[in-house]
Amino acid sequence: MYKILTLNNISPKGLSRFPLDHYEVSSEMREPDAVVVRSFKMHDMALADTVKAIGRAGAGVNNIPVEAMTAQGVVVFNAPGANANAVKELVLAGILLAARHICAAWDYTRGLAGTDAELNKQVEEGKKKFAGFELPGRTLGVLGLGAIGVKVANAARALGMNVLGYDPHMTVDRAWQLDSGVQQAAGIDDLLARSDMVTFHVPLNDATRHLIRADRLRIMKPGAVLLNFAREGIVDEAAVVEALNQGHLRTYVCDFPSNTLQGHPKVIALPHLGASTQEAEENCAIMVADQIRDYLENGNIRHS
Ligand code: MLT
Repeated sequence: MYKILTLNNISPKGLSRFPLDHYEVSSEMREPDAVVVRSFKMHDMALADTVKAIGRAGAGVNNIPVEAMTAQGVVVFNAPGANANAVKELVLAGILLAARHICAAWDYTRGLAGTDAELNKQVEEGKKKFAGFELPGRTLGVLGLGAIGVKVANAARALGMNVLGYDPHMTVDRAWQLDSGVQQAAGIDDLLARSDMVTFHVPLNDATRHLIRADRLRIMKPGAVLLNFAREGIVDEAAVVEALNQGHLRTYVCDFPSNTLQGHPKVIALPHLGASTQEAEENCAIMVADQIRDYLENGNIRHS
């Protein structure tokens, strides 16, 4: 029997890929052969030396000490692209939330009270206060054109936006998937300088930590919107707060809560919902379960 330890709630559909006659799957397991994890931070965890593989049911592996694991001979799998559609849809929502002040307007509407005449007056005030902007003709900068970035870029084109993309590591396959209307920026700074809204889809690593910092925020257009559906460490949050306070940045939309940003009126923050759809959770869990099985049973290391 192979033993699989789960460290987060993992989609039952994914876990059902481990046949019960050969696998034992549990969130409490002393000497597992493999671990399936979602966002649980594994850096301080003492791992039994029976573990041969770790499957990250998601794209980012920054919650796993990959180098240390690799040095111990533990293979780390992840599920790139399996939740790309879910993230894309939330990025589109973020773009619309920012363009139309939807969160602030919703708060405002919930607080309305009075007679019909008073409500009408408050509605008129709300219309002035929360006037937004439309997307066609605006430029979205997409930094990182992997599975998620390409989907975001193409969807923004479908909404009529101009799209500027940049990715120094873009593969030929991805280039073929990209809408022909997506223009290539000359580099990060060029992309920041020419975009009304900027979204980035890159992993968090030593090269991308604080990629978006004070000097880069200054390059952005006054009134620009920054969207972060990747990882919080990619952005210097203190610099973002300063840019928001100075009015240089209009809105920061991010998929993480943070003490630095908490309660800021120009921040729209979500509790890391990008991959939180039933479909994405299933896709990710199925992908890593299949990878782990193939490794444990056949010794194959495949990255889907
Ligand atoms: C990812 O890296 O794909 C996400 O963090 C997935 C998740 O929310 O678990």
